Amino acid sequence: MPEVVSAPANGPKHVAIIMDGNGRWAQSRGRPRLFGHHAGAKRVKEIVRACAPLGVKYLTIFGFSTENWRRTQSEVAGLMSLFRRYIRKEAQALKAEGVRVRFIGDRPRLDEKLRDLMDELEELTQDNDGVHLTIALNYGGRDEVARATQRLAQDVADGKLSPADVGEETLPKYLDTCVLPDPDLVIRTSGEARISNFLLWQSAYAEYEFIDTLWPDFSKEEFRELVMSYSQRDRRFGAVTL
Ligand code: IPE
Ligand code: IPE
Ligand code: MG
Repeated sequence: MPEVVSAPANGPKHVAIIMDGNGRWAQSRGRPRLFGHHAGAKRVKEIVRACAPLGVKYLTIFGFSTENWRRTQSEVAGLMSLFRRYIRKEAQALKAEGVRVRFIGDRPRLDEKLRDLMDELEELTQDNDGVHLTIALNYGGRDEVARATQRLAQDVADGKLSPADVGEETLPKYLDTCVLPDPDLVIRTSGEARISNFLLWQSAYAEYEFIDTLWPDFSKEEFRELVMSYSQRDRRFGAVTL
């Protein structure tokens, strides 16, 4: 029997996930960290598929941070190879399922083959309008704001923008996420209660869920519970609920 899931009223439109805990998941099984990253990559598909029935139109996932280069050379190389493999393997299914894929982060530091695959996947899915999946690779919130500021400053220098016109709504237009709405709900797995430089500007008013589950154990049922519990929250945005 197909599963019957209905989207909650007041559910999140945009969910962002800090997929953490792959290393610990592997270590607890006496396996190398990369084994955990492979297990983690497999969870992505299930969560992407769970979005549409729950009314989640945008899913943004943190794959690799600007700080993750501090890991061993072999872990970084393994992750880069996993990203290439994931894109090659999933591209056609993502296209067929109507998923629109975008990448955010600083691309030049990524290797050329990976960048080419990212470009191809974005192009392949550019006409899709199902779930909008954004994958953050070599992404850091501070780095993103710095890069955005650099472009904004260039526009001022070129006379395209006047400093007096720079307001709260100006900078988001220069961010990697310029076409996305702000996240409503940010989930971090693995028990760490920190945001590790993810979507700093965009999450100013997001709701947060820090859960103990390690990413490779995260299931669509748990995702659904978090989406349901979000729909009960009272988002006041600084105002008073009467
Ligand atoms: C998250 O899992 C994946 C990446 C950061 C690439 P970790 O690799 O951080 O797993 P833990 O936190 O060490 O368990
Ligand atoms: C955040 O996890 C980055 C990703 C999930 C890709 P980390 O494991 O790198 O974060 P810290 O080091 O615990 O802050
Ligand atoms: Mg971690």
